[in-house]
Amino acid sequence: MKPELNKIYEGDCIEIMRQWDDDCIDHCITDPPYNMSKRKGLGWAFSNHITMEEKWDVFSREDYLDFTREWLNEVCRVVKPNGNIFIFGSFHNIYDIGFIINEKDLKIINSIVWFKPNAQPNITCRMLTESTEYIIWACNATKAKAKGWTFNYDISKELNTNKQMRNVWEIPYPSQKERTYGKHPSQKPIDLIRRIILIATNKSDSILDCFSGSGTTGVVAQGLKRDWVMIDNNPEYNKIAKNRLKNVQVTLPKSLVQTTLKI
Ligand SMILES: C[S@@+](CC[C@H](N)C(=O)[O-])C[C@H]1O[C@@H](n2cnc3c(N)ncnc32)[C@H](O)[C@@H]1O
Repeated sequence: MKPELNKIYEGDCIEIMRQWDDDCIDHCITDPPYNMSKRKGLGWAFSNHITMEEKWDVFSREDYLDFTREWLNEVCRVVKPNGNIFIFGSFHNIYDIGFIINEKDLKIINSIVWFKPNAQPNITCRMLTESTEYIIWACNATKAKAKGWTFNYDISKELNTNKQMRNVWEIPYPSQKERTYGKHPSQKPIDLIRRIILIATNKSDSILDCFSGSGTTGVVAQGLKRDWVMIDNNPEYNKIAKNRLKNVQVTLPKSLVQTTLKI
C-alpha cells in the first residue's frame, strides 16, 4: 500500500514502512536515535540542563548496527531510486551510520557539518565543548548507478550571498520560541531543515521522516508546499508535532523572498 501523505503514523517505523510499496516516496530527511543517552544523565549546579537520558536512545553497539540496517533497508526500499536521503547524527552514531551506508554502497553526496554556536557547555570540564552535529547526504542508488539527484544549485547560491554554499553550516540550536508547543530533547532548528528542503527537494515532492519527534520536517515541508509523511512511536512527541503543524508558519528566508527562481 502507499503511505497516506501529510499524516503522522504512530508506531515502530520499521514495521510501518514494511507495509508500504517500493519507490512510493521522493526523499527522506531523518534524525534517528543517536545512541548517546546514559541511563542516568549528568547534571551540574549552574543550570537545570541534564545530559540525555532517553530510554529510546539506549542500544548496545550490535543492536544499534542491526537497528540502523533494518530502518535504512526500509528507507532505501520506499524512497525512489536517486531520491535524496539526509541522515542526522553526532559523533556517537554517525560513524556507525556511515559504516552501514558504505556496506550498502550508497553514493554519499556530501557530509555536512552543522555548527551550533549556542551549544550547551561541557559539564565535566575534561574535554572540549561538543558543538557540531553531522548530516550525511546520500543518494538512493549505488555509487556506480547514482545520477540526477535533486540539487537546486541556484537556490543554494542565493541562500549564501550568491557564492557556492559550503558544507559547514552555522545555525543556532532552536530558540524557546520554536519550542512553544512542548520540548523534545533533540529538536532540530527550522532553519536547518528549511535549507535542506530548499536545496534538495522541489515543490510537491514527498518527504519522509521516519523518526519525526516534534515534527520539524513536516512543519517545514508543509510551509514550503511539499508533501510529507512522518513516523514516531512516542505519542507525546506526536502531540507536539500536531500542534506545531496547526500553528507554526514557515516562510521563505529573506534572501529568497524576491527571487525569480522556481521554489
Ligand atoms: C533524534 S529524535 C528526532 C527529533 C526530530 N528531528 C525533531 O526535530 O524533533 C528521534 C526520534 O525517534 C523516535 N523513535 C525512536 N525509535 C523509534 C522507532 N523504532 N520507530 C519510530 N520512532 C522512533 C523517538 O521517539 C524520537 O522522537
